[in-house]
Amino acid sequence: MAGNAYRDTTEALLLPRIIRFGQNLYGASFTLMKLVPARHILLKAERTGALGPRTEVVETTSGTFGLALAMQSALMGRRLTLVSDPVIDAALRRRLTDLGARVEICAEPAEIGGYQEARLKRLAEIRAERPDSFCPEQYDNPDNPASYTVVAEHFERALGGVDCLVGPVGSGGSMCGTVGALRSGGRPVTAIGVDTDHSVLFGQPDGTRTLRGLGNSLMPGNLDHRAFDEVHWCTAAEAYAATRRLHARHALFQGPTSGAAYLAARWWAAAHPNARVVVMLPDEGYRYQETVYDDGWLASHGFTEPLPDAPVDVSDPTRPAGRWSRYAWGRRSLAEVIRAAGASEPSREGAP
Ligand SMILES: Cc1ncc(COP(=O)(O)O)c(C=O)c1O
Repeated sequence: MAGNAYRDTTEALLLPRIIRFGQNLYGASFTLMKLVPARHILLKAERTGALGPRTEVVETTSGTFGLALAMQSALMGRRLTLVSDPVIDAALRRRLTDLGARVEICAEPAEIGGYQEARLKRLAEIRAERPDSFCPEQYDNPDNPASYTVVAEHFERALGGVDCLVGPVGSGGSMCGTVGALRSGGRPVTAIGVDTDHSVLFGQPDGTRTLRGLGNSLMPGNLDHRAFDEVHWCTAAEAYAATRRLHARHALFQGPTSGAAYLAARWWAAAHPNARVVVMLPDEGYRYQETVYDDGWLASHGFTEPLPDAPVDVSDPTRPAGRWSRYAWGRRSLAEVIRAAGASEPSREGAP
């Protein structure tokens, strides 16, 4: 990073603040974690010529990657089209358009693969219609995980080493990229991924999920299952309650995927007092003030169960446990885990 005093916005907001939660647990609090891959991918594409003077950036997203691309594209004076679906929240949509992005909404889900598949189809059409376009492809572009080397270096500088990294998994980019870079020095770093029930990422059949930002209906190429020592699944109610606990205990105002990761990290750090644990906290709480941070909303949606003290251990990760659960993944491939559990592999139909 440049040594001068002035930075542009995405550069200034790129790296997380490192906050000590206890004896051996540190939070990495990002303003918007997805700025890391968005900035890296677009600047690299400009350097390599993949982004020409008039090339339009196109991507499908209803979440924070879209916001990060819109921020980066605004700074670069780039045209950006984002393909999304009706689940996109109105405030985020307003922010995207304010940043100059064009937002296209797919009104109908695909029969197989739901809205995610419908969005991918529309994106393919747009790319065919506009040959001078560039798609960052966060799910499959190796520059997504590669972009997190700076985050690993930041941790090394601040803490002098990390023994365990815990974080939510969506595309796999942040966890696989950061832990890969931390291990490149030969350190035996433990990686704990946090997912939610009915996500295909670690072997469950796709289904309806309430918790957004982590989990996936399609298998991303950037998810390297062999990077993970342990996987946790938590429900939306547990993630929301943990997000509120993070706020109440540490005055840290983050989104619900941060809460999910904090839940697993706090438990693991207490069980391993000699390990230095870092938990990835990917976004701030502002988008969730009317939901996760509103007791009335939580009660009216039935998110009232008390937070368990510990996960249940599962022997078959392909079956949703319906509560915070944990599986010793052991750095194996998905196929190896599924064979060992005696389950059948979920359908990859529609996977990009
Ligand atoms: C808020 C939030 N948390 C966590 C993640 C998961 O990160 P990754 O895609 O790097 O696995 C995402 C991904 O979009 C996200 O938006």
